[in-house]
Amino acid sequence: MIKNELTEIIKNRRSIRKYKPEQLTEEQLQTLLECGFLAPSGGNSQNWHVTVVQSEDFLKRLSAANRDSILADKNLPQEIKDRFSNSGYSVAFGAPTVFFISANGSVVNACFLAEHIVLTAESLGLGSCYLGGIMQFLKGENGKAFVEEMGVPEGYELLYGIAVGTPDEQPDAKPRDYTKVNYLR
Ligand SMILES: Cc1cc2nc3c(=O)[nH]c(=O)nc-3n(C[C@H](O)[C@H](O)[C@H](O)COP(=O)(O)O)c2cc1C
Repeated sequence: MIKNELTEIIKNRRSIRKYKPEQLTEEQLQTLLECGFLAPSGGNSQNWHVTVVQSEDFLKRLSAANRDSILADKNLPQEIKDRFSNSGYSVAFGAPTVFFISANGSVVNACFLAEHIVLTAESLGLGSCYLGGIMQFLKGENGKAFVEEMGVPEGYELLYGIAVGTPDEQPDAKPRDYTKVNYLR
């Protein structure tokens, strides 16, 4: 593989599931947003929306509500419940900022915006993790109030969150299957 600044960033990125509490600087936050909004979109439609959550109170309440709903779910196996039952459980793994991404129509463009944010975070020495698991709660009856509080605009569908903060762990790279390709030459 050719080695340059971007390929190194892509190679070094990991999903981070343990963060230091310090908040992003405003300059880091605005850089992440600006690089996100520089993503390509079909016909330059930019049919995306980002909700930046930096409210510790909101993330604490969301974590508690999600944990309660999981622990009350009779269909979930105990081993899954055990992951949520410890008192330190945080929906964003303790990250101080979560970007919630929504789309109005096609979700493809919003995925590019999201990955721009994730790679930019890595370039700034920040860690990140996509949060898809929380969507089951947010799309359910008990999640409605949280989505409303987030202020997602009318007509937009919430897709996932991205936790961002200063990493407090250095996980190994997860394996990849490099054979998922064919060529017509
Ligand atoms: C759409 C999406 C949703 C994800 N949701 C979660 C999640 O809810 N919780 C979590 O711990 N990781 C989540 N992940 C992270 C993946 O588990 C991770 O990207 C994968 O295991 C590969 O590891 P890596 O990112 O460190 O390379 C999600 C990733 C994507 C792309």
